[in-house]
Amino acid sequence: MTLPDLEQEEQLEHGKSIISTGNAEIDNKMGGGIPVGSLTLIEGDSHSGKSVLAQQMIWGSLHDGFRVSLFTTENTVRSLMKQMQSLSIDVLDFLLVGFLRVYPMRVARADRRLLQELITAIVKEQERGMEVIFVDAITPVIVVTEETDVLAYFEDCKKLCAQGLTIVNVVHSHALSQDFLVRLTSLCDAHLKLRTEEVGERLVKMMEVAKIRGATKTTGNIVSFEIEPGWGMRIIPLSKAKG
Ligand SMILES: Nc1ncnc2c1ncn2[C@@H]1O[C@H](COP(=O)(O)OP(=O)(O)OP(=O)(O)O)[C@@H](O)[C@H]1O
Ligand SMILES: [Mg+2]
Repeated sequence: MTLPDLEQEEQLEHGKSIISTGNAEIDNKMGGGIPVGSLTLIEGDSHSGKSVLAQQMIWGSLHDGFRVSLFTTENTVRSLMKQMQSLSIDVLDFLLVGFLRVYPMRVARADRRLLQELITAIVKEQERGMEVIFVDAITPVIVVTEETDVLAYFEDCKKLCAQGLTIVNVVHSHALSQDFLVRLTSLCDAHLKLRTEEVGERLVKMMEVAKIRGATKTTGNIVSFEIEPGWGMRIIPLSKAKG
């Protein structure tokens, strides 16, 4: 997409109702994609592909004309641009024209106030017209926060989603007890579970579409995928994964 195209889109209603990964096959496995106005949880172990999935969704959203803000505890702006370029999901042009805003979060001395600051910052993004918010990852903030305050954060997110904002929180599975995870996911409209499984000699990445409220097709799908430099996420047939 060229910059003049972007300026033109700014004046038009993009009218999209789905957040896409920009990869039709993956969207299809997610029941068409995540509906706008959803609160989503991407959950998984370390290196299971959470950030790459979030980056695919950022790329897909930007190409559909959405304005996207990312709060990241894992990247600087520069390292994120480099990482996304290496996966051929370059978003530098969108960053330069302000369709993408990236906020690296300092969490070395995180305390319970950080989650409150985060929700305040998300509201600010909404006020400046940003439409899709990603938090990758919320884990370092959650681990220093009482469970009731974490639930309150998700409830606040849910209220913003009811006003039309789309919010995707990424979390490491190990940071949450099973009981607490159930409580959190019951608040979310979509829950994508990633894991790495040893299949024979290979380590295979799996995504389970545990829930997508309002999806046009059935959810509950499990897909195996790999991450390829110069390509991004690529679905691989389960039979090949098992072979
Ligand atoms: N640019 C890239 N080129 C090639 N492989 C990559 C690239 N980025 C990620 N990968 C592969 O994908 C895997 C998952 O990466 P990703 O950063 O999405 O995991 P994650 O679940 O976010 O991990 P973490 O919990 O550490 O944040 C990496 O371990 C790596 O093998
Ligand atoms: Mg990550």
